[in-house]
Amino acid sequence: MNKEQQYEHVALQIKGLIESETDLIANLSNIANLLGEAFSWWWTGFYLVKDKELILGPFRGPVACTRIAFGKGVCGTAWQEKKPIRVKNVNDFPGHIACSAESLSEIVVPILKDNEVQMVLDVDSEMENHFDELDEKYLERICYMIAEKL
Ligand code: SME
Repeated sequence: MNKEQQYEHVALQIKGLIESETDLIANLSNIANLLGEAFSWWWTGFYLVKDKELILGPFRGPVACTRIAFGKGVCGTAWQEKKPIRVKNVNDFPGHIACSAESLSEIVVPILKDNEVQMVLDVDSEMENHFDELDEKYLERICYMIAEKL
C-alpha cells in the first residue's frame, strides 16, 4: 500500500469507529493509536483547549508536556492561527517546545467548532521533513471528521 492508500484505509477505520461511539475521549484514544501505529510515527496525540490552555489528551508515544499556552510552540501557534502547521525541522521553529529530544519534524492540525479551536492533533517524527502535503490533506480530513462529531 502506498501512503495515500494507507490513509484511505485508516480514514475508513476512523469513520467506522466514530460512527459507533459518541464518547470523545474514547474516540481520540483510538484515533491516536490507529494513526500512530499505521505510520509508525514517534508521537501522535491530541491537546485539548481547557481554561485557555492546551492540555494533553489521548496520545500514543512517550510521555509528553502536559500544558501549552496560547501562541506557544507549534501547537499553540496552530491554535492561534487556526490553521495547520508543518515544520520540516523543529530546530528552525522559534519557540518550539521539545517534549522529546528525538522529535525532528512535526505537523499540527487544529480542530474547530464554530470557528473556535477545540483541540489540536499533533504528530511528531524522529525523521527530518517527514510530513508533506498528502499528510496535511488527510490529517485535515480526519480532523474534520472529529469536528463534525463535536
Ligand atoms: N512540540 C510541540 C509540543 C508537543 S510535543 O511535541 C508532544 C510544540 O512545539 O507545540
